[in-house]
Amino acid sequence: EFEFVSGFSAIRLIHGTNKASVEILLYGATVVSWNVNDQKILFLSDKASFENGKGIRGGIPVVFPQFGPGKLPQHGFARTKKWTLGDTNVDKQTGDVTAKFHLHDDEDTLKIWPFTFELTLSITLKANKFEQKLTVINKDDKQFDFTALLHTYFTVSDINKTKISGLRNIDYIDKVDNATLKHETNEYIEFVSETDRVYKNGATNNNLVTIIDNSNQQQFEIQIKTQTFNDFVIWNPWIEKAKNSNDIGEHNYSKFVCVEAGQVSKPVELNSKQTWNASQEISLISHS
Ligand code: BG6
Repeated sequence: EFEFVSGFSAIRLIHGTNKASVEILLYGATVVSWNVNDQKILFLSDKASFENGKGIRGGIPVVFPQFGPGKLPQHGFARTKKWTLGDTNVDKQTGDVTAKFHLHDDEDTLKIWPFTFELTLSITLKANKFEQKLTVINKDDKQFDFTALLHTYFTVSDINKTKISGLRNIDYIDKVDNATLKHETNEYIEFVSETDRVYKNGATNNNLVTIIDNSNQQQFEIQIKTQTFNDFVIWNPWIEKAKNSNDIGEHNYSKFVCVEAGQVSKPVELNSKQTWNASQEISLISHS
């Protein structure tokens, strides 16, 4: 089923099984929560700012058409625009709930990025899974290039005890070491300091990245499967940067890890009138 929250500024998808729910703001089509059996899978900072002009610190902001700094605002404009709600659907057999969100060019986007386009973010909530499919349509009569990413913040009990698997033998750009190109030799990525890496074409090698939260006897695993999103960004700002950030704070640095499926190491070149699709499917494997 569906519920509108705070005067239509957000929509909640509710599944009949596992008390599963997802809440999505029209602002950025940002998913701000995904809960299964009262467990909060996504991190949302208690200092997150919901004011215009900023991405939400937590949940899943959509990065488009530019990852990171550049000509456009950091991480592009999709995460700070108001999207519209399109079709919604409940599958009568499975109870799976889908909602679609749209964004197209307007006066403001054309000023900074001179192309006509349409984005659709389709979100499906299943009993213990959650899917996001991003579609980009080039409505212009010329080609445009873009990068795109789903900036997913996962809750962890303690970053110091969190491990990520599935990225072994993949080259990555180490953004905290002068963008040096390195090769991942470890089975598990562990966190001991600020981490900001772009794993290139990680998904084509393996297609499955797992987050293992090992704290306090609690163990749960989250698996991320992607299609067309060929890169994974792994990010945690660590203590100092969290402390100096207005919307994170020192108390939050250990409570999340960002594992971001995207296409960022090589921009997509999309011809006039062409469509590009990419998706992630996140599954909750076990929890206690
Ligand atoms: C990550 C980048 O995707 O996002 C980091 O790799 C960046 O370099 C982080 O710091 C957060 O970005 P922002 O704009 O939301 O503060």
